[in-house]
Amino acid sequence: MSEFHERVFSGVQPTGNLHLGNYLGAITKFVSLQKTHECIYCVVDLHAITVPQDPLELQANTREVTAAFIAAGIDPHKQIIFNQSQVAEHAELAWIFNCVARIGWLNRMTQFKEKAGKDRENASIGLYAYPALMAADILIYRATHVPVGEDQKQHLELARDIAQKFNNDFSESIARNGFGGAYFPLPEPLIQGPATRVMSLRDGSKKMSKSDPSDNSRLNISDSAELIAQKIRKAKTDPEPLPSETAGLAKRPEADNLVGIYAALAEQSREEVLARFGGANFSTFKSALVDLSVEKLGPIGAEMKRLQGDNVYLDQVLRDGAGRARVIAAENMGQVKQILGFVR
Ligand code: AMP
Ligand code: TRP
Repeated sequence: MSEFHERVFSGVQPTGNLHLGNYLGAITKFVSLQKTHECIYCVVDLHAITVPQDPLELQANTREVTAAFIAAGIDPHKQIIFNQSQVAEHAELAWIFNCVARIGWLNRMTQFKEKAGKDRENASIGLYAYPALMAADILIYRATHVPVGEDQKQHLELARDIAQKFNNDFSESIARNGFGGAYFPLPEPLIQGPATRVMSLRDGSKKMSKSDPSDNSRLNISDSAELIAQKIRKAKTDPEPLPSETAGLAKRPEADNLVGIYAALAEQSREEVLARFGGANFSTFKSALVDLSVEKLGPIGAEMKRLQGDNVYLDQVLRDGAGRARVIAAENMGQVKQILGFVR
């Protein structure tokens, strides 16, 4: 939508065990978008509490994500890095979106079904309403582009539906108040490259996840070189050598996953990786993958650890970012209130 100023927004939950999926699916994209866009990156602590959190761990995990953003190369002075709970407008707009979104829309959300599991009656209302908060995160800044992993696609579609319905329901008021034909942009998901869905190292049919009880299922961004090597060597594979063409990966989820990881880390396509490793056995390929993973993740993990030794600095980054985010959020929230007819 050309009438909107291009702006990037994305979020990561401070729920511990930041892993290669987060890095390749999201954080590397955050880094490269800085070249072309004004970017706002949020540590979404309000999302984290949709399931129980230990307060001390939440604090540590919030700083961990902040450190990861900076260590990966996001510039906290040029862009905005902050934690969600410091900008009250997220929760305020989320309430309004709770009144725009339909129960039927939320009932279709697969992540809720997965996370709530069998005991759905006992899930928090927040877990259910989570996508409306996510829409508010993006739209309080009227952001136009949202880099995320594949698992967030459905939530992004819901955010577009909410934006669209708000624009339609209030079209007269939007026009009367001088905001033209539409107040909110329809945010576009940016889900690109060879690693939009990194799978577990133990099971190629399961997503790599922070909450997998097996630490061997994921490469954490902060893992040591020894641990990275150990986990990759233990990663599940099949007995065949690597194919020379991507078609040969079709029914081989574990092989496909490792090739995808290599491709993303090397900034190549799966085709290029197979052109080099086609016909090789897994022990050869895994050695190359260990070297590449250590080369790419090692310096980030080390810089993260260094930053995590300085909470004063990390908290200052978040506070400063929140201050700048709040200026944009407050202006937009005022306009939303005007559109809704709230007396101010
Ligand atoms: P979360 O850990 O759920 O807060 O996710 C933060 C970001 O990482 C989101 O953009 C997710 O889509 C992305 N992400 C999480 N897990 C994976 C995965 N296994 N593969 C690719 N992207 C992922
Ligand atoms: N729901 C996202 C996740 O679990 C995190 C998130 C919250 C987010 N708000 C967002 C991502 C806004 C992009 C834009 O990964």
